[in-house]
Amino acid sequence: MRRMIIAGNWKMNTDLASGTALASGLAELVSGKELSVDVLVCPPFPYLQAVRQAVGESGISVGGQNCYFEPSGAFTGEVSVGMLQDIGCDSVLLGHSERRHILKECNGLINKKTKAAIAGGLRAVLCVGELLEEREAGNTEAVLDEQMAGGLEDVSAEQMTQVVIAYEPVWAIGTGKTASPEQAEQAHAHLRNWLASRYTQELADSVRILYGGSVKPGNAMELLGQPNVDGALVGGASLSVENFGPIIEAGLEISKA
Ligand code: PGA
Repeated sequence: MRRMIIAGNWKMNTDLASGTALASGLAELVSGKELSVDVLVCPPFPYLQAVRQAVGESGISVGGQNCYFEPSGAFTGEVSVGMLQDIGCDSVLLGHSERRHILKECNGLINKKTKAAIAGGLRAVLCVGELLEEREAGNTEAVLDEQMAGGLEDVSAEQMTQVVIAYEPVWAIGTGKTASPEQAEQAHAHLRNWLASRYTQELADSVRILYGGSVKPGNAMELLGQPNVDGALVGGASLSVENFGPIIEAGLEISKA
Protein backbone atom coordinates (compact mmCIF):
# COMPACT_ATOMS: atom_id res chain seq x y z
CA MET A 1 0.00 0.00 0.00
CA ARG A 2 1.50 3.33 -1.06
CA ARG A 3 1.26 6.14 1.46
CA MET A 4 -0.31 9.20 -0.09
CA ILE A 5 1.44 12.57 -0.27
CA ILE A 6 -0.46 15.85 -0.29
CA ALA A 7 2.05 18.51 -1.26
CA GLY A 8 1.68 22.26 -1.58
CA ASN A 9 3.83 24.18 -4.03
CA TRP A 10 3.59 27.79 -2.98
CA LYS A 11 5.67 28.94 -5.98
CA MET A 12 6.66 32.64 -5.73
CA ASN A 13 3.80 33.52 -3.42
CA THR A 14 3.22 34.57 0.20
CA ASP A 15 5.33 36.86 2.36
CA LEU A 16 6.88 36.17 5.73
CA ALA A 17 3.72 36.96 7.68
CA SER A 18 1.24 35.18 5.41
CA GLY A 19 3.54 32.20 4.84
CA THR A 20 4.07 31.55 8.53
CA ALA A 21 0.36 32.12 9.23
CA LEU A 22 -0.51 29.56 6.53
CA ALA A 23 1.98 27.07 7.97
CA SER A 24 0.66 27.56 11.51
CA GLY A 25 -2.91 27.19 10.26
CA LEU A 26 -2.05 23.90 8.58
CA ALA A 27 -0.24 22.66 11.69
CA GLU A 28 -3.35 23.46 13.71
CA LEU A 29 -5.56 21.71 11.19
CA VAL A 30 -3.65 18.42 11.43
CA SER A 31 -2.98 18.57 15.16
CA GLY A 32 -4.54 15.70 17.03
CA LYS A 33 -5.27 13.87 13.78
CA GLU A 34 -3.65 10.61 12.91
CA LEU A 35 -1.72 11.61 9.81
CA SER A 36 -2.17 8.67 7.48
CA VAL A 37 -0.81 10.68 4.55
CA ASP A 38 2.42 12.65 4.15
CA VAL A 39 1.79 16.39 4.08
CA LEU A 40 4.48 18.56 2.51
CA VAL A 41 4.70 22.31 1.94
CA CYS A 42 7.22 23.95 -0.38
CA PRO A 43 7.47 27.68 0.33
CA PRO A 44 9.87 30.14 -1.31
CA PHE A 45 13.49 29.83 -0.10
CA PRO A 46 13.52 32.94 2.12
CA TYR A 47 10.62 31.60 4.19
CA LEU A 48 11.69 27.98 4.52
CA GLN A 49 13.15 28.34 7.97
CA ALA A 50 10.22 30.30 9.38
CA VAL A 51 7.77 27.84 7.87
CA ARG A 52 9.77 24.91 9.25
CA GLN A 53 9.48 26.48 12.69
CA ALA A 54 5.78 27.21 12.26
CA VAL A 55 4.89 23.61 11.35
CA GLY A 56 6.91 22.44 14.36
CA GLU A 57 6.22 18.87 15.40
CA SER A 58 2.88 18.70 13.56
CA GLY A 59 4.17 16.03 11.20
CA ILE A 60 3.98 18.37 8.20
CA SER A 61 7.26 18.39 6.33
CA VAL A 62 8.90 21.19 4.44
CA GLY A 63 10.67 21.11 1.09
CA GLY A 64 12.43 23.36 -1.40
CA GLN A 65 11.04 24.19 -4.83
CA ASN A 66 14.42 23.65 -6.46
CA CYS A 67 18.09 23.08 -5.63
CA TYR A 68 21.47 23.06 -7.33
CA PHE A 69 23.56 19.91 -7.81
CA GLU A 70 26.88 21.19 -6.49
CA PRO A 71 27.42 21.08 -2.72
CA SER A 72 28.90 24.60 -2.38
CA GLY A 73 30.98 27.16 -4.20
CA ALA A 74 30.78 29.96 -6.74
CA PHE A 75 27.21 29.43 -7.97
CA THR A 76 25.59 32.80 -7.42
CA GLY A 77 21.92 32.59 -6.63
CA GLU A 78 21.82 28.83 -6.15
CA VAL A 79 20.88 26.76 -3.10
CA SER A 80 22.43 23.37 -2.29
CA VAL A 81 20.90 20.14 -1.05
CA GLY A 82 22.90 20.47 2.17
CA MET A 83 21.51 23.95 2.81
CA LEU A 84 17.96 22.65 2.45
CA GLN A 85 18.69 19.85 4.86
CA ASP A 86 20.43 22.17 7.27
CA ILE A 87 17.21 24.07 7.85
CA GLY A 88 15.05 20.98 8.19
CA CYS A 89 13.79 20.26 4.67
CA ASP A 90 13.25 16.62 3.76
CA SER A 91 12.16 17.06 0.14
CA VAL A 92 12.76 19.08 -2.99
CA LEU A 93 10.66 19.62 -6.12
CA LEU A 94 12.66 19.12 -9.32
CA GLY A 95 11.85 19.64 -12.97
CA HIS A 96 8.69 21.62 -12.34
CA SER A 97 7.23 22.73 -15.67
CA GLU A 98 7.76 26.38 -14.79
CA ARG A 99 11.47 25.64 -14.38
CA ARG A 100 11.53 23.57 -17.56
CA HIS A 101 9.70 26.13 -19.69
CA ILE A 102 10.39 29.54 -18.14
CA LEU A 103 13.90 28.88 -16.76
CA LYS A 104 14.78 26.51 -19.63
CA GLU A 105 15.93 23.61 -17.46
CA CYS A 106 16.71 20.52 -19.51
CA ASN A 107 16.50 16.85 -18.59
CA GLY A 108 20.28 16.66 -18.14
CA LEU A 109 20.32 19.40 -15.50
CA ILE A 110 17.24 17.96 -13.79
CA ASN A 111 18.99 14.58 -13.69
CA LYS A 112 22.07 16.08 -11.99
CA LYS A 113 19.85 17.76 -9.42
CA THR A 114 17.85 14.58 -8.86
CA LYS A 115 21.01 12.57 -8.21
CA ALA A 116 22.41 15.27 -5.91
CA ALA A 117 19.17 15.40 -3.93
CA ILE A 118 19.12 11.62 -3.53
CA ALA A 119 22.81 11.45 -2.59
CA GLY A 120 22.22 14.17 0.00
CA GLY A 121 19.34 12.26 1.55
CA LEU A 122 16.41 14.35 0.33
CA ARG A 123 13.24 13.01 -1.22
CA ALA A 124 13.27 14.15 -4.86
CA VAL A 125 9.85 14.97 -6.30
CA LEU A 126 10.49 14.73 -10.03
CA CYS A 127 7.84 16.58 -12.03
CA VAL A 128 6.95 15.51 -15.56
CA GLY A 129 4.19 16.55 -17.92
CA GLU A 130 3.27 17.39 -21.49
CA LEU A 131 2.34 20.69 -23.15
CA LEU A 132 -1.10 21.09 -24.70
CA GLU A 133 0.31 20.88 -28.24
CA GLU A 134 2.16 17.70 -27.33
CA ARG A 135 -1.05 16.15 -26.02
CA GLU A 136 -3.00 17.26 -29.09
CA ALA A 137 -0.35 15.79 -31.37
CA GLY A 138 -0.69 12.45 -29.56
CA ASN A 139 2.80 12.72 -28.07
CA THR A 140 1.94 12.66 -24.36
CA GLU A 141 3.46 9.26 -23.66
CA ALA A 142 6.59 9.93 -25.71
CA VAL A 143 7.18 13.20 -23.84
CA LEU A 144 6.67 11.51 -20.47
CA ASP A 145 9.03 8.68 -21.45
CA GLU A 146 11.72 11.16 -22.44
CA GLN A 147 11.37 13.16 -19.22
CA MET A 148 11.44 9.98 -17.12
CA ALA A 149 14.43 8.51 -18.94
CA GLY A 150 16.31 11.83 -18.81
CA GLY A 151 15.46 12.72 -15.22
CA LEU A 152 16.18 9.25 -13.88
CA GLU A 153 19.31 8.42 -15.87
CA ASP A 154 21.74 6.47 -13.65
CA VAL A 155 19.29 6.42 -10.76
CA SER A 156 19.43 2.93 -9.27
CA ALA A 157 16.53 0.84 -8.01
CA GLU A 158 17.77 1.37 -4.48
CA GLN A 159 17.86 5.15 -4.97
CA MET A 160 14.30 5.09 -6.28
CA THR A 161 13.03 4.71 -2.71
CA GLN A 162 13.83 8.43 -2.40
CA VAL A 163 12.04 9.45 -5.58
CA VAL A 164 8.43 10.53 -6.01
CA ILE A 165 7.02 11.31 -9.45
CA ALA A 166 4.58 14.16 -10.00
CA TYR A 167 2.56 14.08 -13.21
CA GLU A 168 1.59 17.62 -14.05
CA PRO A 169 0.11 18.21 -17.50
CA VAL A 170 1.32 21.72 -18.33
CA TRP A 171 -2.05 22.72 -19.79
CA ALA A 172 -3.68 22.04 -16.43
CA ILE A 173 -1.26 24.08 -14.28
CA GLY A 174 -2.73 27.30 -13.00
CA THR A 175 -5.32 27.29 -15.77
CA GLY A 176 -8.31 25.97 -13.85
CA LYS A 177 -8.40 23.12 -16.41
CA THR A 178 -7.94 19.86 -14.59
CA ALA A 179 -7.12 16.60 -16.30
CA SER A 180 -10.16 14.37 -16.03
CA PRO A 181 -9.74 11.54 -13.55
CA GLU A 182 -9.53 9.20 -16.56
CA GLN A 183 -6.81 11.27 -18.24
CA ALA A 184 -4.84 11.41 -14.99
CA GLU A 185 -5.23 7.69 -14.37
CA GLN A 186 -4.14 6.86 -17.90
CA ALA A 187 -0.97 8.94 -17.63
CA HIS A 188 -0.20 7.59 -14.15
CA ALA A 189 -0.66 4.00 -15.31
CA HIS A 190 1.66 4.72 -18.21
CA LEU A 191 4.30 6.15 -15.86
CA ARG A 192 4.01 3.11 -13.61
CA ASN A 193 4.45 0.82 -16.61
CA TRP A 194 7.50 2.81 -17.61
CA LEU A 195 8.93 2.26 -14.11
CA ALA A 196 8.13 -1.45 -14.32
CA SER A 197 9.93 -1.84 -17.62
CA ARG A 198 12.92 0.26 -16.55
CA TYR A 199 13.16 -1.32 -13.07
CA THR A 200 10.81 -4.04 -11.80
CA GLN A 201 7.07 -4.35 -11.26
CA GLU A 202 7.66 -4.48 -7.53
CA LEU A 203 9.56 -1.20 -7.60
CA ALA A 204 6.95 0.39 -9.88
CA ASP A 205 4.24 -0.62 -7.43
CA SER A 206 6.08 1.07 -4.58
CA VAL A 207 6.77 4.48 -6.20
CA ARG A 208 4.31 7.23 -5.43
CA ILE A 209 2.96 9.17 -8.41
CA LEU A 210 1.26 12.47 -7.57
CA TYR A 211 -1.12 14.39 -9.80
CA GLY A 212 -0.77 18.16 -10.16
CA GLY A 213 -2.65 20.74 -12.17
CA SER A 214 -5.60 22.75 -10.82
CA VAL A 215 -6.30 20.36 -7.94
CA LYS A 216 -8.88 21.94 -5.66
CA PRO A 217 -11.27 20.87 -2.91
CA GLY A 218 -14.00 20.14 -5.46
CA ASN A 219 -12.01 17.67 -7.57
CA ALA A 220 -9.53 16.22 -5.06
CA MET A 221 -11.62 13.22 -4.00
CA GLU A 222 -12.20 12.04 -7.52
CA LEU A 223 -8.59 12.46 -8.61
CA LEU A 224 -7.13 10.92 -5.45
CA GLY A 225 -9.56 8.05 -5.79
CA GLN A 226 -7.90 6.79 -8.99
CA PRO A 227 -5.93 3.59 -8.42
CA ASN A 228 -2.62 4.96 -9.72
CA VAL A 229 -2.91 8.44 -8.20
CA ASP A 230 -0.98 8.49 -4.93
CA GLY A 231 -1.41 12.08 -3.94
CA ALA A 232 -1.49 15.64 -5.20
CA LEU A 233 0.93 18.44 -5.90
CA VAL A 234 -1.16 21.54 -5.39
CA GLY A 235 -0.27 25.07 -6.47
CA GLY A 236 -2.92 27.78 -6.20
CA ALA A 237 -5.17 25.87 -3.83
CA SER A 238 -2.30 25.25 -1.40
CA LEU A 239 -2.14 28.95 -0.53
CA SER A 240 -4.96 28.95 2.00
CA VAL A 241 -5.95 26.63 4.81
CA GLU A 242 -9.50 26.96 3.53
CA ASN A 243 -8.57 25.26 0.23
CA PHE A 244 -5.60 23.08 1.15
CA GLY A 245 -7.30 21.76 4.30
CA PRO A 246 -10.09 19.94 2.44
CA ILE A 247 -7.53 18.44 0.02
CA ILE A 248 -5.58 17.03 2.97
CA GLU A 249 -8.87 15.76 4.42
CA ALA A 250 -9.71 14.08 1.10
CA GLY A 251 -6.35 12.31 1.22
CA LEU A 252 -6.93 11.22 4.81
CA GLU A 253 -10.38 9.91 3.97
CA ILE A 254 -9.22 7.91 0.97
CA SER A 255 -6.18 6.54 2.79
CA LYS A 256 -8.42 5.16 5.51
CA ALA A 257 -10.98 3.65 3.16
P1 PGA B 1 -1.89 24.60 -9.77
O1 PGA B 1 -0.30 24.31 -9.82
O2 PGA B 1 -2.47 23.71 -8.71
O3 PGA B 1 -2.00 26.05 -9.43
O4 PGA B 1 -2.43 24.28 -11.13
C1 PGA B 1 0.21 23.02 -9.64
C2 PGA B 1 1.71 23.03 -9.74
O5 PGA B 1 2.25 23.75 -10.60
O6 PGA B 1 2.42 22.33 -8.98
